[in-house]
Amino acid sequence: MQINQHARLSVAPMMDWTDRHCRHFHRLLSEHALLYTEMVTSAALVRGQALHLLDHTLSDHPVALQLGGSDPGELAEAARIGAEAGYCEINLNVGCPSDRVQSGCFGAVLMERPALVAECVAAMQRAVDVPVTVKCRIGVDAQDPSVVLPEFLAHIVRAGCERVIIHARKAWLQGLSPKENRDIPPLDYDLVRQMKGLFPNLHISINGGITSLDQAQEFLDGGLDGVMIGRAAYQDPAAILCEADPRIFGTGEASLPEEAVLQMLPYIEDHLSQGGKLGQITRHMLGLFTGRPGARAWRRMLSEGAHRPGAGTDLVREALQQIAPREDCRKVG
Ligand SMILES: Cc1cc2nc3c(=O)[nH]c(=O)nc-3n(C[C@H](O)[C@H](O)[C@H](O)COP(=O)(O)O)c2cc1C
Repeated sequence: MQINQHARLSVAPMMDWTDRHCRHFHRLLSEHALLYTEMVTSAALVRGQALHLLDHTLSDHPVALQLGGSDPGELAEAARIGAEAGYCEINLNVGCPSDRVQSGCFGAVLMERPALVAECVAAMQRAVDVPVTVKCRIGVDAQDPSVVLPEFLAHIVRAGCERVIIHARKAWLQGLSPKENRDIPPLDYDLVRQMKGLFPNLHISINGGITSLDQAQEFLDGGLDGVMIGRAAYQDPAAILCEADPRIFGTGEASLPEEAVLQMLPYIEDHLSQGGKLGQITRHMLGLFTGRPGARAWRRMLSEGAHRPGAGTDLVREALQQIAPREDCRKVG
């Protein structure tokens, strides 16, 4: 399968959430969904202190590396390092509104500087053979999205970008926290759909507020090329990822959450044997049984127990026993 096909459904880059443990877990739920790293700044990679952030296992593929930055030369070098480490796509963050990111002049503030973004994309694409993609907003602050978004896309397309992910709301750089900026500026899905009409050859994924596979399928049926899901995929991974392979990619079978837990056990053992902590992995699994009888006990046992000294896979097995078998589920449900 080509990477553009994997991009029909992707799990969004999320700082502190989509780390390598999370991605390993998500990959057990869906073989084909495209996964993204947390954002890594180009400066941290190029100056070397963040090389450990590139740690990943080949079985997690396909995984895209998201970079933050605005210096074309530095981004090109960071992209080269990422591609060499085995990532199959390098993505530039033009959507993140946090203070720290604004002060470094990157993230969503770059929506105001399309020519610079284009320069960055061109430099990155010259440095690597894998696709360079952009994740952006529809605009920032007082910008008129219906004017700036097509201009922005025209710039990056001219620079060689063939795939973009559009978070379908503005970022308000003054006065809102990063969290509020994911909820308060209104979503404009129609504008993103219109971009497909203007840029038929650009692979466009839509992002923002999508909470089910049905909704994802509707966007795909409506002509968009991909759907990126963030919070819903993290908080209720079974609902988004378990049926993704047969439904969105038309291949393979639905995965079972219980089986994914069992498949995680050797991975957890390995992590513990290297001095890692159980909670570093199980924190990503707390939402796995959302909506199922026993989900609360599963979540409580893991969140309370995983940080106790000596906590290991026995705790995970014990927590799994709190989940009612699927037959009971159907009766309840
Ligand atoms: C905890 C958290 C961290 C995030 N970190 C990043 C990030 O590093 N880079 C990025 O482009 N977007 C980041 N985002 C934004 C998401 O990628 C996504 O665009 C946003 O959550 C909207 O999608 P959703 O409604 O499906 O969650 C983050 C979101 C969350 C909830």
